Amino acid sequence: MFHPTRSVQLLALLFCSFLGSSAIAQKLVVKTKQPTAGISPTMWGVFFEDINFGADGGLYAELVKNRSFEFFKPLTGWKTVGKKLAEGDLLVLNRGEADAANPRFLRVQARQTVKNDLGLVNEGFRGMGIKAGLRYDFSVQYRLDGQPFRLLLELLDNAGAVIGNTSLPLDQADGQWHNQQISFTASATATKGSFRIWFEGNGKADFDMISLFPSDTWKQRPGGLRADMVQWLADLKPGFIRFPGGCIVEGPVLAQRYQWKNTVGALDQRPMVVNRWNFEFGHRPAPDYYQSFGLGFYEYFQLAEDIGAQPLPILNCGMACQYNSAELVSMDDLQPYIQDALDLVEFANGDTTSQWGRLRASMGHPAPFHLTMIGIGNENWGPQYIERLQRFTTAIKAQYPDIQIVNSAGTDPSGDRFQFLDSALRKMNADVIDEHYYRSPDWFLQNASRYDTYSRNGSMIFAGEYAAQTDRIASTENRNNWRGALAEAAFMTGLERNAGVVRMASYAPLFAHEEGWQWKPDLIWVNNLQSYGTPNYYAQQLFSLHKGTHVLPILLDNQPLAGQDSLYATAALDSVSKELIIKLVNAGSRTVTPTLSFEGMKKTIGQARQIILHSPDLAAENTFAAPLKVSPKEETVFIKGSTWPVKVEGYSVNVLRIKLR
Ligand code: AHR
Repeated sequence: MFHPTRSVQLLALLFCSFLGSSAIAQKLVVKTKQPTAGISPTMWGVFFEDINFGADGGLYAELVKNRSFEFFKPLTGWKTVGKKLAEGDLLVLNRGEADAANPRFLRVQARQTVKNDLGLVNEGFRGMGIKAGLRYDFSVQYRLDGQPFRLLLELLDNAGAVIGNTSLPLDQADGQWHNQQISFTASATATKGSFRIWFEGNGKADFDMISLFPSDTWKQRPGGLRADMVQWLADLKPGFIRFPGGCIVEGPVLAQRYQWKNTVGALDQRPMVVNRWNFEFGHRPAPDYYQSFGLGFYEYFQLAEDIGAQPLPILNCGMACQYNSAELVSMDDLQPYIQDALDLVEFANGDTTSQWGRLRASMGHPAPFHLTMIGIGNENWGPQYIERLQRFTTAIKAQYPDIQIVNSAGTDPSGDRFQFLDSALRKMNADVIDEHYYRSPDWFLQNASRYDTYSRNGSMIFAGEYAAQTDRIASTENRNNWRGALAEAAFMTGLERNAGVVRMASYAPLFAHEEGWQWKPDLIWVNNLQSYGTPNYYAQQLFSLHKGTHVLPILLDNQPLAGQDSLYATAALDSVSKELIIKLVNAGSRTVTPTLSFEGMKKTIGQARQIILHSPDLAAENTFAAPLKVSPKEETVFIKGSTWPVKVEGYSVNVLRIKLR
């Protein structure tokens, strides 16, 4: 059909390309005095799941894999060594009900052994990253049967040479369990080191919770988190952190669901669970992937507080993963699950005289964690979900009317399952609906207007998991390339423009270990010592650091800019810094120069910041070797008058910050 405006634009385009010029004269009107909605402080957040070695082997800085011998094969990660090593000298025993949360331990039978006679080597999680000059903190539980023992501890480099050692005498030989620790320093760096223990002694000795941490954890907390990984999160200034997932909330079967109460309190009383990503993808098996819960709910709340993010825990709703067993708990047996949710609010916010508030205080945080929202169910669907959710909602709202409940819209952003959930949740007046989209870059480009027509009077939206799949979902060929990141940025203009209904958004998944991953793409990649942000990370960061407080219309021919000429835009007012913030995404290859016109402002003369994320190459990726290949650059630009031609390079995301006078 003939469309006059589009035809004129097409002619201009042809003319410009004929001249080799870059000018397309779109006039974008920013209505500076007409805010349409507030932007939630929680708008841009992070989604954390223990997938891709995100927690164990990643954020949780423990270097020893299978420290308490609870993996299915109890010596997974360990190798027995020594000249005097004989059958039965190193055994794993099970004390069963005597310590049901931590049943297994190592029994050593030594016969006058000294260095090199009898020992164990731990391989770490795809090796151990060891740093020259850094202090390492070793701890162990031991029980001696009459005779003292000595441990010789050795850090080994990639080739097995010793790069740090110490010895630890164990002398409480009273047949009781004791804790012992010692620190020592590495003399060299290793990217894939390991850790060896020689057992010197005579007779029987038992060992458990054999642990080794670097001392340079986040905030130097003993037994804490990898500082470089937390820093990436802190640098996003996220509005919230969603945890612990993701599918691990559901578990493949109910017995292996995530149970927060099993992740708090003493470390050795947090029963391990096999990580569902251990076996979920046959093409990326990880038989050594378990959840130690060293990073448990207390640590998640603490992390949220550290990085200034609202905590958003997601709890199991009484359903296991519907792609796996789809096990359900019967409605008659649902109460303990609901009680877990109620108790979690008490754990986070309760008075220190309450049962769960007291536990929080005993772990080191008497002040509340200010939990304001809780998710019930992850990617659950069907009437079974709604039936269970209703019971949770009634109970939570009765006891904690101010807690906002995040509800699942299932796995897909369209289709019968989605439609069913969307209408059922809206009938329930759901506070927040959690939509997920793992879709192609084109889908993201084509759906920047998705929320333009969503009702402003009903449930709020949480874009809880999204990422452009450059190949297809769950494909190992997916890339964190500029093509995907650019498409996500285009889509995110639609999220921000619709902040009146979209309250929160988070890319997923967050972390991936270069060798331990199951799922691509991911926001941040790590190896044992290094980490880098993807182009997708920098796109997220531009939106998060420059979000503003109120949405302002930015219009082309009186319409939101959502793909016309491959351009996407959103504008905001920051009432705190007194700035206009304009984001312009050019998903096309040609540089364009739209003119910004600031309606409602007398003059805008002065300087502005233009922060540009750009690559001419849609296939560009960041790597360990070139971590900043696609990363933001900043320029100062000068504005004269109340209209302003702004250069928007092909394939670029631009943030303009203009001081209001
Ligand atoms: O982010 C990876 C997985 O994708 C999450 O665990 C799940 O919620 C979704 O299907």
